[in-house]
Amino acid sequence: MSFQFPESFLWGGAIAANQVEGAHITDGKGLSTSDVQPNGAFGELVERQDGDFNIKDVAIDFYHRYPEDIALFSEMGFTCLRLSIAWSRIFPNGNDAEPNEAGLAYYDKVFDELEKHNITPLVTLSHYEMPLNLAQKYQGWASRDVIGFFTQYAETVFKRYGHRVKRWLTFNEINVTLHEPFTGSGLPRDCDEQTRFQAIHHQLVASAKAVKLCHDLIPDAKIGNMILGAMLYPRTCHPNDMVKTLVQNREWLMFGDIQARGYYPSYMTRKFKEMGVELTITEADKEDLKETIDFISFSYYMTGCASADPQEMEKADANMLQMIANPYLQASEWGWQIDPVGLRYLLNFLYDRYQKPLFIVENGLGAKDVLNDEGVVEDDYRIAYLNDHLYQVGEAIQDGVEVMGYTSWGPIDLVSASTAQMSKRYGFIYVDRNDQGEGSLARKPKKSFYWYKDMIQSRGANLAAPE
Ligand code: BG6
Repeated sequence: MSFQFPESFLWGGAIAANQVEGAHITDGKGLSTSDVQPNGAFGELVERQDGDFNIKDVAIDFYHRYPEDIALFSEMGFTCLRLSIAWSRIFPNGNDAEPNEAGLAYYDKVFDELEKHNITPLVTLSHYEMPLNLAQKYQGWASRDVIGFFTQYAETVFKRYGHRVKRWLTFNEINVTLHEPFTGSGLPRDCDEQTRFQAIHHQLVASAKAVKLCHDLIPDAKIGNMILGAMLYPRTCHPNDMVKTLVQNREWLMFGDIQARGYYPSYMTRKFKEMGVELTITEADKEDLKETIDFISFSYYMTGCASADPQEMEKADANMLQMIANPYLQASEWGWQIDPVGLRYLLNFLYDRYQKPLFIVENGLGAKDVLNDEGVVEDDYRIAYLNDHLYQVGEAIQDGVEVMGYTSWGPIDLVSASTAQMSKRYGFIYVDRNDQGEGSLARKPKKSFYWYKDMIQSRGANLAAPE
């Protein structure tokens, strides 16, 4: 395409502490909710027994190998790395009086390394984890006390790293508590709606408080939210399908609406009434919520359809988002429907709604890669996926949407969040480790590594138009 992305556009990849670092109890780290899910996959708390295998205990050993990995990211031309801080490295129990210095020192070293390579960090405060102690003793985010523990953590890291980290996100996919309450909020899967929405409310207040702290402590920083952009289309153009789609999309839009506008949208009044939910929202909460984010960030993997017809709804996919399949789209090996044009649509839609800059902080294809006879992964399918999505990002920018950057998910193979598989690979860099934890952990660039490198260098000039 003749279009080139703006010079200021940030290019890179996104990782999460619990999916890459390993070292799950090293240097004083406490256990987190992610360490006690079944082998690390989505689900409920399982008591850990000595000798239990959990793939995330080592993950890809980024904890020790970050210099090598960051050097590889730099070779690809990354100008940005999205990463998260493990809250339980800094406050092992969540409610400790003092932070764990060894945990703080670890991220100092990671940021040193990024600085060495001129890579801008984009830091998520909480990516699918919280100190386990807070889930066990306080029922996770169901307790208002957790707001205080989180703000203490946020303040600690803002003060420690604020001189060098200028881009922040509060909670990863803050809407995930709707689908995976333990992962999102440390709640049991069968929690009632009252508890779930009260926990969500506490998290939204904590997010706004962190935004305020960031604005006060690091005035030249920008802080955003992060939502799982699970957009639905109407299954047909029947007006009832249109309304159903509107209502269902508001389930995830509610989060961004509050974080970007500073108050609950009026449509939630009816929704809460229908669910029999009565939230405790104090006057102080209302004041706190008024502190709004500077930009919107989101993950984008798939779209789906909604329908007012109960028979159609029965066909909804069994994956966590309960979407009806779109007959015009193909799906990945894990049934996630691939929709590059939907990304252009979503960028325009969100920009129209909020008029704030947008950042695509996750997008990518999970696939089973195979090494060829030379030991290389020829992942043309991944190149095609990324090409098609980035092409549509370019279209959206030309539509007038302000896009700050793009960090593809898992630039290096990592442990899957939903399934705990290593074999669901997203990376430009292959990691020698299988689902049983066997392998040397050696890193090796895939074909897509060189494609992404060229793409960044040419600022998207070599992206192919859709056929
Ligand atoms: C996002 C999460 O939902 O999707 C990531 O923020 C996750 O943590 C990614 O890894 C891809 O999902 P999965 O299940 O393929 O790892």
